[in-house]
Amino acid sequence: MKVLVVGGAGYIGSHCVRRLLEMGDEPMVMDNLSNGHRGALNPAVPFFEGDLGDQPWVREIFATHRPDVVMHFAAFAYVGESVERPMKYYRNNVVNTLLLLEEMLRAGIHRFVFSSTCATFGVPESLPISEDLPQRPINPYGQTKLDIENALRALARSTPLGFASLRYFNASGADPRGDLGEDHAPETHLIPLVIEAALGRREGLTIFGTDYPTPDGTAIRDYIHVNDLADAHLLAMRQLTPGAGLFYNLGTESGHSVRAVIESVERISGRKVPYTEGPRRAGDPPKLYADSSRIREELGWVPRYRSLDEIVETAWRWHEGHPHGYGD
Ligand SMILES: NC(=O)c1ccc[n+]([C@@H]2O[C@H](COP(=O)([O-])OP(=O)(O)OC[C@H]3O[C@@H](n4cnc5c(N)ncnc54)[C@H](O)[C@@H]3O)[C@@H](O)[C@H]2O)c1
Repeated sequence: MKVLVVGGAGYIGSHCVRRLLEMGDEPMVMDNLSNGHRGALNPAVPFFEGDLGDQPWVREIFATHRPDVVMHFAAFAYVGESVERPMKYYRNNVVNTLLLLEEMLRAGIHRFVFSSTCATFGVPESLPISEDLPQRPINPYGQTKLDIENALRALARSTPLGFASLRYFNASGADPRGDLGEDHAPETHLIPLVIEAALGRREGLTIFGTDYPTPDGTAIRDYIHVNDLADAHLLAMRQLTPGAGLFYNLGTESGHSVRAVIESVERISGRKVPYTEGPRRAGDPPKLYADSSRIREELGWVPRYRSLDEIVETAWRWHEGHPHGYGD
């Protein structure tokens, strides 16, 4: 299938582009490189550099290239920044996504795969987090993603749009070949932060909260490998039906504490990770992990990276080989 990957120069999108190529699909990338990297692009894949908010330009690309499917990774994704600058998030994550959907429908393109997030659930009332739990985001970032999920639901009721909303837990790791990986500035995700501390690229790390009701007192999250996320996109894209929506929570269904991540990086790297212990951060729940049985049962999705060490190993390979990321 011809797949337009919006945000395909970013972390998860670039891994998905590779997987599409491997499976014989025809990816094309649209990205404004605001947070993406030219080095993450495959020169053999058509690249349209520009902004999603430029509606006439998006219209032109749809008219000329006629993708069968649109995968939409482009968004801003810093929770803290979304609290400080909510309009920046509403504009890019909501307004620009609606413009994209409007142009898709205008062009008669009806298959859409959306990057949603476990942040739409906020502080869950029970664990693991299944699709049936109420969604009550606690920050603008999570709210913008839920707003799009709701728009998709409504659009599918009155148009031929068929969509999948994939709610990732903590995307992590890198392609095992070591040439694609995570390069965010600033970095806020735990595994790259711990690796950068191990590499001496940052002075140290603060563990926010050591008195949570968890076995070692630190917060527990569900780390899902980026290539397993890519696989879920390819499975979902082939199951889309007009006028219907799929919602899937994507995680390994097991949680790992902050201390467990530090120990894993120390094991894999053979280096000591310098860290200090600080107070909890407001809004950080003690534990978050997924129930992904729905996508396993309905689409046969099987995450290949089951252990934290396997995930950290791929991340370590990328960061050790690219201490300055893509270098742009
Ligand atoms: N990384 C995670 O752990 C995680 C977890 C849950 C959900 N998500 C969601 O997954 C998606 C991808 O995350 P990521 O970590 O790969 O992010 P990323 O920042 O690495 O990639 C996003 C890409 O979109 C591009 N982009 C942003 N706004 C654009 C615009 N207006 N026009 C054109 N291009 C634009 C950026 O340049 C970047 O290349 C995001 O929607 C994010 O909210 C990520």
